[in-house]
Amino acid sequence: MHGQISKTASNSDNFFEPAFFYRSAREGMCDFLAQNFAEPHDGVLLPAFIGWSPNEGSGVFDPVKELGNPFGFYNLNPDLTVELQDLERKLASGDFRILVIIHYFGRTEPALLTISALADKYGVLLVEDLAHGFFSAVGGSEAGSFGHVRLFSLHKMFPFTQGGLITYASPSLVKGQKSTMAELAVNILSYNWTSIAERRRSNFVDITERLKSLPECGSKFELLWPELGSSDVPQTLPVRIAGDSRDDVYRRMNEAGFGMVSLYHTLIEQVRNDFDSMTELSRHIINFPVHQDVLPELLDALVRTFQSHLND
Ligand SMILES: Cc1ncc(COP(=O)(O)O)c(C=O)c1O
Repeated sequence: MHGQISKTASNSDNFFEPAFFYRSAREGMCDFLAQNFAEPHDGVLLPAFIGWSPNEGSGVFDPVKELGNPFGFYNLNPDLTVELQDLERKLASGDFRILVIIHYFGRTEPALLTISALADKYGVLLVEDLAHGFFSAVGGSEAGSFGHVRLFSLHKMFPFTQGGLITYASPSLVKGQKSTMAELAVNILSYNWTSIAERRRSNFVDITERLKSLPECGSKFELLWPELGSSDVPQTLPVRIAGDSRDDVYRRMNEAGFGMVSLYHTLIEQVRNDFDSMTELSRHIINFPVHQDVLPELLDALVRTFQSHLND
């Protein structure tokens, strides 16, 4: 028999998942929505923990607002995983055609499989927001494997001032989208992803160990993400500070030269009144840096300084 196996691959449709590079994830999300969902009734359902700041705007929510799509929000559990009952209730309303889930801080949403089944059941398109999860998705985690659309914020992961990426599970979602920063493909391939992921993971694990051994753990603060999944790669390490000292701790840590952030310190006004526990979390959350420039020898000082400011 002849012609059963060709010498090289030539079928350009096999495993084809089109990718587009942008200046930011939100620019890509805007392109996706504008090309696919121009109808005024195409509602977008998002998680209720979305931040806003004067410099950064509101990430994934900006394009939805800009394009005028109707929107709604579903609740999250205290650790920012999806509250499945509320999600299903909102999907069952029939008001939405697009569901956005966020893999917060690069942690793979644990109910991803169930959420994907719910998206199919209610006939909505699943957008996986991997703004924080590029290295989780490319490193073998399930994050990014279920979404019809996956969005990545490359400037949060690489030392770039700009950069976003959208990939589509199917070419049928590509209508007229266009990259605005195609050269990013070269830029991201010029870094060693495995080494970056390893450094981020080891920084996360080492800081977590130190935090768990502090007597203040469980009383003055709590870990929001106590166990790192085997293939997740963190963007930051989130903790929840008890009481009302978060802003002071944040300020003092930064004054001491430790680049903490609060993701998110202020929520978009559209969720503030309806999701009390999320608003509350936004007043208590603080995130440790774990990125590839964080040197392991500075972690002792980082955690000691944190402990001293917790007790000020
Ligand atoms: C969860 C999440 N999604 C999307 C975005 C948007 O990313 P970008 O700044 O690349 O537009 C951000 C950042 O603001 C984010 O935190």
